[in-house]
This record gives sequence, structure tokens and C-alpha cells, in this order.
Amino acid sequence: MWLCCTTSLLCLTAKPLDVLIVTPGLTGFSTTTTITQTGPGFEVALHRLKTVYTNIAFSHVYLYNLSIPDCGTFVYDAQYILSKWFYEQGGDRSPMPIYIVTPGCLEPGLYNQLAAAWNMLFITVTTSDLSRDKSISPTWINTNIFPTMFLGDVFYRLFLMQNWTSVYMVLDLDSEPMYPLVFRVLDKLLRSKVQTFNIQYSSEKEDLDFKVLLERFATQRPRLAAFLYNIYSVMLFLGPAAQLRLLLLSAAARGHTTGEYVFIAAVPVLYKAQDTFMWQTFDQNDEIIRAAYRSVIFVTMMDVSPSGLHVTEAQLDELKSKWAAEFKSNPFYGNQDLKNEPSIPHLASANAAMEMLAQVLNESMADPDFDPRNGRALARRFLNRTFDTSSGRVILDRFGDRTPSVSVSYFNDTTGDFQVYIRSNITNGDYRYSAVTPVSWFNGSYLPPNEPMCGYMGDKLECLPHTGIQTKELFAGMGVAVVAVIVGSICLGCLIR
Ligand SMILES: *[C@@H]1O[C@H](CO)[C@@H](O)[C@H](O)[C@H]1NC(C)=O
Ligand SMILES: *[C@@H]1O[C@H](CO)[C@@H](O)[C@H](O)[C@H]1NC(C)=O
Ligand SMILES: *[C@@H]1O[C@H](CO)[C@@H](O)[C@H](O)[C@H]1NC(C)=O
Ligand SMILES: *[C@@H]1O[C@H](CO)[C@@H](O)[C@H](O)[C@H]1NC(C)=O
Ligand SMILES: *[C@@H]1O[C@H](CO)[C@@H](O)[C@H](O)[C@H]1NC(C)=O
Ligand SMILES: *[C@@H]1O[C@H](CO)[C@@H](O)[C@H](O)[C@H]1NC(C)=O
Ligand SMILES: *[C@@H]1O[C@H](CO)[C@@H](O)[C@H](O)[C@H]1NC(C)=O
Repeated sequence: MWLCCTTSLLCLTAKPLDVLIVTPGLTGFSTTTTITQTGPGFEVALHRLKTVYTNIAFSHVYLYNLSIPDCGTFVYDAQYILSKWFYEQGGDRSPMPIYIVTPGCLEPGLYNQLAAAWNMLFITVTTSDLSRDKSISPTWINTNIFPTMFLGDVFYRLFLMQNWTSVYMVLDLDSEPMYPLVFRVLDKLLRSKVQTFNIQYSSEKEDLDFKVLLERFATQRPRLAAFLYNIYSVMLFLGPAAQLRLLLLSAAARGHTTGEYVFIAAVPVLYKAQDTFMWQTFDQNDEIIRAAYRSVIFVTMMDVSPSGLHVTEAQLDELKSKWAAEFKSNPFYGNQDLKNEPSIPHLASANAAMEMLAQVLNESMADPDFDPRNGRALARRFLNRTFDTSSGRVILDRFGDRTPSVSVSYFNDTTGDFQVYIRSNITNGDYRYSAVTPVSWFNGSYLPPNEPMCGYMGDKLECLPHTGIQTKELFAGMGVAVVAVIVGSICLGCLIR
């Protein structure tokens, strides 16, 4: 009885665990990864944690220098800002254990050097250059949802799945940094199994002549093309929605949007109001684009829809309105009219990082050997785990890096919306897709093969109007040609030897 009372009294009066979370970062609007753009993600999470975890007392500080304009400049100051502050807190003898939870732009590698040396838990939210060498990054955890590690696989696996062995790749150099990155990675990755023809242009310098592009696309023969075949019918377009519109207008005019040709668009994330890949932009071409969108496969790099995140729509909507309220009420975030559309993936990742930290701390407190200042041990408690947070499911791999959520959609003409048919399914670093629903493509349930039905020139025999020549004779003629080529190449082979 006595024991019972004392323990419960102890429990009631037990001092909560005091922890200090520090968020160093850039301010302003030069990127979406600044404190000003992600701050409400931290703030809303903190409000929640303070009510849910009464046994942990969270303190939180931002570290910044308002005069630093961009990521590039911030790199030079990041370590100084963090270490100066750390030693002002008393360094290793700070009154509370300290954890770094930060968006991160170009500087996370530099924070990591300090975090590793200080044995301090270090969570990044919006960058993913986490080192896979745990001797270099023993305390580093990442909740960014962008598929940095899998940029090539996202498309390569899609091509392999469809047996597309030749792909026309078009890059707009004046678009967001993701596109050149994908282009370069794919160019290296594809050579053996998928042939590509690569085109780059600068939409800011000069307009691409899409008519000429499509003409070439439909007539070009890949270098190693099999005899009589030219095999480009799949185009990966790495550029913004407005440029895709121009491409599709030309394609529609050429009759290339009837299901034989596939245009693949890479969509960063399906939430933005600017540069959305929505058919409707309220101009005279909307209906043409809506029809042409049926010829497009949309690869969404960060699926932060409720199903992509494994949360309910109501749950996500509630968070979004809390983030919006925070932006509107706090001048520090400088986005009080919400003119800069909040970046949902980043806010969600910040929220998730804070909740995961709280969850791990709370569990650890049940362990008598728990040392809240041992960042290495704390970081190990995150590895290989799945966290269901209020802003989405976070699956961490054995390096502490988040497994991304990529989805691929076709366009549902009835609803005018995207319909996800496959989703990324990554296990042990192996990137695959899992089916969600069967694909619907025009009236069928499969995507077209590499070659259009009537050939690239529309000149396949079965599509030609009947003329004097009998199909049989033509085939016989072709047979002779094939034999001649084979014999020819054998002879050439002998000669070379
Ligand atoms: C902030 O950055 C500016 C420009 O880099 C620098 O001159 C200034 O000393 C910094 N302020 C602090 C408090 O570090
Ligand atoms: C790709 O080729 C394999 C083997 O030839 C075949 O089994 C599979 O059905 C093909 N897939 C598609 C989508 O055409
Ligand atoms: C915190 O941990 C305790 C004991 O392990 C557990 O009973 C409790 O549900 C946890 N709290 C939350 C909010 O998860
Ligand atoms: C995570 O899983 C991998 C393989 O699945 C295993 O080798 C590794 O030891 C695990 N790490 C932890 C910390 O559990
Ligand atoms: C389009 O969406 C509607 C409404 O959700 C659905 O009934 C229909 O089957 C979808 N069509 C295709 C082709 O997916
Ligand atoms: C993901 O892949 C694994 C095996 O690679 C499979 O067991 C699992 O069912 C897949 N998940 C989904 C959602 O399809
Ligand atoms: C697709 O089906 C609709 C109605 O079911 C029909 O009107 C249309 O001609 C079909 N299109 C093609 C390309 O077969």
C-alpha cells in the first residue's frame, strides 16, 4: 500500500525530461526549404507534442542570420552559427540534451560533421544527402520524402515494366533543378537496356519548335534500331507544365494524341497552384489539352496525397489549415497572405520529424539505461522502422533515410483528374512498382508498346490504302531485302576478319 502510494506520488511529481531542439537554417523565400517556409511544420508539431507528451518538456529555438540571402552563402556561415550557439549553451555540459532538427539546404553535410563530433541526434527534413556510411553520419536521420536516391530507378523501372526499350528524352534546362538531375542520372543508367535520344533546350532563351521536335520523334531511327523498325513512340518530357502544354498542342495537331504515343511527364508534387499539371488554365486550349492529357503518364515524385502518405483526407486537411493559420498569424514566417503557396511535403516532413523524435524519446524513457545525450544510441532507435505520424507514414531504411513515395497516374477523362495505377514499393533499397489499379489507356487496359500500330511514318503495310501491289508481294520483296542484308553483313564480317 505504502509502496503503491509512493510510486504513484513519484510518478505524479516526476520531473519531465527537458529537451532542447535547435533548428538552424536559412530565412526568406529563395527556396522552399527555409525556416520561414517550413517553420509552421515545426510549430504545429510542438503544440501537439506539448499536450500529448506531458512527461517531456520541449524547448525549441531557431538559429538564423537574416542578412544571409541564399543557400550558397549560408554554407559559409552554417557551422559557425551552430557551433557558436552550442558553446554558448555550455557545449556538452548544456543544461538540457540538445537535438538538431532542421530543414537543410546545401549545408547538412556541415551540420553532420558537428553532430557526429558532439554525438548529437541530427534530423534533416527537406534534403536527402544523408551519407550511407554510418561512421560518417552516426546520428543522422532524414524524413525528406523526395526520391533523391532513386531518381533514375523511378523512370528506368517504369520503362522496363512496359518493355519500352527506346525513349526520347527532352529536357528544358530552364526548369526546376530536379529535371536536369533526372536527365543526367537517366542518361548514365539507361544505356544498356533502354536506348535514348536526348534533346535539351532552354525555354527562356528560345522556344523549342515542337512541330520539328515531334516530326523527328516520329521519324527518327534509334542508332541500334532493328532492321526496318524505327522505335520511338515514348517521350519523357522533363519540363514544366506550361511547356508540356505547348508540346501537347503540337502533338494534338499532328494526330499524335490518339493513344499510340506516350508522353511521360515528371510532376514534382501534385498540390501546387503554380505550375500545376492541371488541364485547366482557363485559356482557349483547355479542351484540347484535356483530350491530349489522355496520352500522358504522370510520374509524381512526391505523392503527398492522403493515400500517398497513408493518412485520412480529414487528418491532412486539419494539418493544412493549422499550417495556414500559423503562416497568417506569425510575422516571422513572412507569408501572411499565403502568396507563397505552403510546401506541403516539407511541412509534413517537419511535423513527422518532431513527432518521431517525441515517440522515440518517450519509448526510450522506459529503458533504465537510456541516456538522452547519447545521439548515436538514440539515432539507432530510428533505423529500419515505420512511424505512423499525423502527417504521414515514414518508413526509414537501415541508414535512417526515408523511403520515398512515388506514384504513377493516367488521366481520367471523366473526372479530369489523375488516377494512380502504380506506386513505388521499395524494399532493401530495391526500387519496384506495385499495382494499385489496372491502367486505363484510351479504350484498353494496357499501355502501347514501343512501336505505334501503323509504324512511325504511318506507313505500315496493314495501314496503307490498298494499291496495285499485293501485300504478299511486298512481304516477298522485304524477305529478299532482309536476306540481302544478312548475307551482306556476314560477308562484311568475313572481310573485317
Ligand atoms: C550575419 O551575416 C552577415 C553577412 O554575412 C555578417 O556580416 C554578420 O556578422 C552576421 N551576423 C551575425 C550575428 O553573425
Ligand atoms: C514485357 O515482356 C515480357 C516478356 O517478353 C512479357 O511477359 C510482359 O507481358 C511484357 N510486358 C508488357 C507490359 O508488355
Ligand atoms: C509513452 O510511453 C508510455 C510507456 O512506454 C506509453 O504507455 C505511452 O502510451 C506513450 N505515450 C504516447 C503518447 O505514445
Ligand atoms: C536493419 O535491417 C538490416 C537488413 O534488413 C540489418 O542488416 C540491420 O542490422 C538492421 N539495423 C538495425 C539497427 O536494426
Ligand atoms: C474515372 O473516375 C470515375 C469516377 O471516380 C470512375 O467511375 C471511372 O471508372 C474512372 N475511369 C477510368 C478510366 O479510370
Ligand atoms: C511490395 O513488394 C513486396 C515484395 O517485393 C510485396 O510482398 C508487397 O506485397 C508489396 N507491397 C504492395 C503494397 O504491393
Ligand atoms: C472508345 O470507346 C468509345 C465508347 O465506348 C467509342 O465511342 C470510341 O470510338 C472508342 N475509341 C477508340 C479509339 O476505340
